[in-house]
Formats: sequence, structure tokens, C-alpha cells
Amino acid sequence: MSSVSDGSKSQAPVVRDDEGNRVVIFDTTLRDGEQSPGCTMNLEEKVSVAKVLDDMGVDVIEGGFPISSIGDFEAVSAIAKQAKQAQVAGLARARPGDIDRAWEAVRHGVRPRIHTFLSTSPLHMKYKLQMEPDAVHEAVIESVSYARNLCDNVEWSPEDGTRTEHDFLCRCVESAIRAGATTINIPDTVGYTVPEEFYELIAMLRNRVPNIDKAIISVHCHNDLGLAVANSLAALRAGARQIECTINGIGERAGNAALEEIVMALKTRQDVMPYHCGVDSRYITKASRLVSGITGFNVQPNKAIVGKNAFAHESGIHQDGMLKNAETYEIMTPESVGLKRSTLVMGKHSGKHAFRSKLKELGYELSDNELADAFYRFKDLADHKKEVFDEDLVALVDDAVLRHNDTIQFVSLGVHCGSDEPQTADLELVVSGERKRADKVLGSGPVDATFRAIRQIWPHEATLELYQVHAVTGGTDAQAEVTVRLAEEGKTVIGQGADYDTLVASARAYVNALNKLIVKREKTAPPEEAAADDALAV
Ligand code: KIV
Ligand code: ZN
Repeated sequence: MSSVSDGSKSQAPVVRDDEGNRVVIFDTTLRDGEQSPGCTMNLEEKVSVAKVLDDMGVDVIEGGFPISSIGDFEAVSAIAKQAKQAQVAGLARARPGDIDRAWEAVRHGVRPRIHTFLSTSPLHMKYKLQMEPDAVHEAVIESVSYARNLCDNVEWSPEDGTRTEHDFLCRCVESAIRAGATTINIPDTVGYTVPEEFYELIAMLRNRVPNIDKAIISVHCHNDLGLAVANSLAALRAGARQIECTINGIGERAGNAALEEIVMALKTRQDVMPYHCGVDSRYITKASRLVSGITGFNVQPNKAIVGKNAFAHESGIHQDGMLKNAETYEIMTPESVGLKRSTLVMGKHSGKHAFRSKLKELGYELSDNELADAFYRFKDLADHKKEVFDEDLVALVDDAVLRHNDTIQFVSLGVHCGSDEPQTADLELVVSGERKRADKVLGSGPVDATFRAIRQIWPHEATLELYQVHAVTGGTDAQAEVTVRLAEEGKTVIGQGADYDTLVASARAYVNALNKLIVKREKTAPPEEAAADDALAV
């Protein structure tokens, strides 16, 4: 990539060659996304999301923060070993222990990457790190050099980059590149910047850092003001060539820039943004559904690209226009994001072969055992529900298949309820391979009795913060999809369960949340940069 500049403040260096317009898509769903409240994923879940990201052509998958727990370390290693084309990155603070652990996790990948970071804003340096700028600068050089001795693909991020003083940012970026960083990522950690300002910041770095052409500039935008995607696109115009993003925009607080929005904005507006990336957009719906099914984070109906209403047309005028020419109200086709019109799939007489091909069409490729589990649940559902729709299958497979390695498994539930008291629940679970029962557990209502029975079998202190039921499709025989949120010592997890019986769906959702809590408890990462000398010991 070649560039020219007159050095003035607002003049971004011009990117000349076509190759220079290739944008690297760095997905951090499994790291920044997963570390946000309620989004915990276990190893199998992370691996299944990573497979879709790899298949869809994401360039870099940030698999996790390997020092944070054994589970995260193992997940990142498994992702690195499995990835066919994507680079797999592991996050590390500016500490040798973190960097070694990240390297150990990613080293077997096709092109491993270490991503190390350190705060550079006055606020973070003073209060979080309790370090002087010179010491931070020294730590940047030491940590990047340390990482570069292990791996030739090193990304460095100045955390809270957008609130960092420009002179200091330039000094750190220049030194990080000299120490061997191949990607410089500028995070808008608190989602504070606005497009024009972020454009100027990237342009300023390109104009002032003498060795900036030796690294790819990346951006990592949070969505606190709803500007993450706009800021990322402004940065591209200023010369950034890597965007960090997540499926469904999940991430810390208000989330990160949404991958699907970035990819579709680039694809749809080539006329004003002549950049291209390697993502096959037809995987977007599959990835979105998988992530929302696993995390329990429902996508808001009016969410761009992946919301339920994103391609729906209800008003008469719009429907009329659509019938005459779809382009009247659609700037992208549903097919371009892999969305198929909701169809009736099959009933109780459908065979396993048809079932497998239907799941394949919906984006699921299951092993024989998984297929057998899902088929059993499908037959059971079809016995109770006249018409089975795509949405039913998605809910069923997310619930049945991705959970088979969980510590706690639902077996059966019987409930006595109605206006005749008492309401009781009889429940059977398998906990770490052992069958356990709770009988005639009393509650104020059937849901309470069910949750008390779970608590009796697997005692815990977590409190129930949210219980929500929604029907997957229309009709009184619709499957119920239940979401529960549990909180324990300031940590929250979200569980989901689906079934044609609302109480069974409730029990499944609660059990799913407990399994996530078990994963979350394993994450024992020390607080970030707790003490200056510890943070710097590279
Ligand atoms: O938001 C942030 O600053 C981060 C860094 C670790 C890149 O997630
Ligand atoms: Zn972040």
C-alpha cells in the first residue's frame, strides 16, 4: 500500500493501489463478545461458532483470553487447531505469563497471532495502571518484543486509544512497530469517539508516525453512543485496513461494531466505499442465529441485517411496491445474507434423510449422534405440533444439540398445577453423569416449584433476575422459548430452553443457565493491571 500526504491535519493519506483496499475482518465474538455480561460460552459452543466464522471467510478469529481460565485456554487451542483458513488470535496483557499462555494456545494454528494491549490514556494510566507514561511506554516495547520473539504475527492495542494524548499515542505506536508489531489496533474502548474525529485520529497517525506503513492499522469500536459501525467505516476511509467486530454486535456494555453491518455496508455501498473483504455474506444469518442461540441474547426485531423484521414488509404500500419490484424497498436481498423465507418443513411422517437435508439448508451440519438426538426431539415435537416451521427447528437444534456435553442435563419433569393447591414438581436431572431426582417439591406456582426442584438437586446461591417466555411461532401449539437470567456475585448468565411444554422449556432454560454459571466460575482471571509492578513484569 502506498500513500501520500501533505501533512495537514484533516488530509488523510491517499490509498493508491487496489490491493490496498482489502479489509481484514477480525472477529472478536469469542473474546470481547463472550466477556460481556451473560454471554459466557463453553468450549463446544466456542468451537462451533469458530467453525462458522472460519467457513464464512473471517480473516482473524480472536478465540479468547487464554490466561483467564483453563476453559478459555482450551477453547482457544481447539479453535486454533480446527481453523482451516482463519488466523487465530489470543489476547494477552503486557505480562510474560499472559503472552506465553496466549502463544501456547494459538501456536498450532495456520497463522497464529498474539494480541497484546496496554492502556495509554491519562485516565487509565493514572487510575487503572497507576503508572507514569514513561513506564507505560517501556512496557509497550518490552511486551511487544517479548511477543515478537515467540510469534511473527503480533497485534498491539493502546487501550482507551481514542482518549489518549496524540503525542503519546504516536510515540507508543511508533515504538510498538519498531519492537515488531505487525498490526496496530486503535480501540475506542468506551465508545466515545464520533466518525469525523476518528477519521482525523487515524489520518493523524498515518501522517505523523514515521514507520506506520510497516503495520496494518486496525480499529476496534464500542457502541456506547451507537456509532461503532459508523466510526469503523470512517476509519477505513482514513486508511485503516482491519476492522474488529462481533456477530450481532455483542460485546462489553453496548457491544462492538456488528460484523454483519460492516460486511453488508461494504457490499451494498461499493460506490462510496470501494473496499472489499473476504467474508461470504450468505453465512451471516446462520452465524447470527448460532450466536444468539448459544448466548441467549435475542436479536432485537429491528436490528439491521439480522433482526426478524430486517426484510419484513407489512404495510400495504410497501407490499405493493415489493410485488412490483423488490428494489423499491430492499437495498439488499434476503438471500445475500443467507435468509430463506420461512417455510413449512415437515410433519411427523418426515424421514431422517429429509430432516438432515432440511437442517443442512438451515446451516447445521450435525454428527450422527447429534442428528439422532435432534431427530428424536423433532419426532416428539411433530407428535404434538401440527406444523413444524424453520424457526421450530432452529430452536430445537440450538436447545438439543449444543448441550450434550453440559455438566447438568435435563431428563424429565412432571408438574402438578392449577387452582387446586399444592403445586409441586417431580424432576430428574443427570449431574456429572449421575441421575438425581427431586420429588413433590412445593412451590408458589409450577415455575417456582420447578426451579426449587432444580435448586434441591443442585444447590446454588444464584438469584433469578429474569424469566421470559415467548412463542417461537404462532398458534396455541407453538413451542415456548424461555429465557432466564441468573446472577451470582456480580456475574450474570443467560440460559435458554425450548419445548412445546412451557414448563419443560423453563426447566431446560434454568439448567442451561446453571451450566453457563459453571463455565463462568472457572474464569478466574486476575483483575486487569491490578498493580503497576505486576502489569509491567515483562
Ligand atoms: O475495548 C478494548 O479496548 C479492547 C482491547 C483489549 C482491544 O477490547
Ligand atoms: Zn473491546
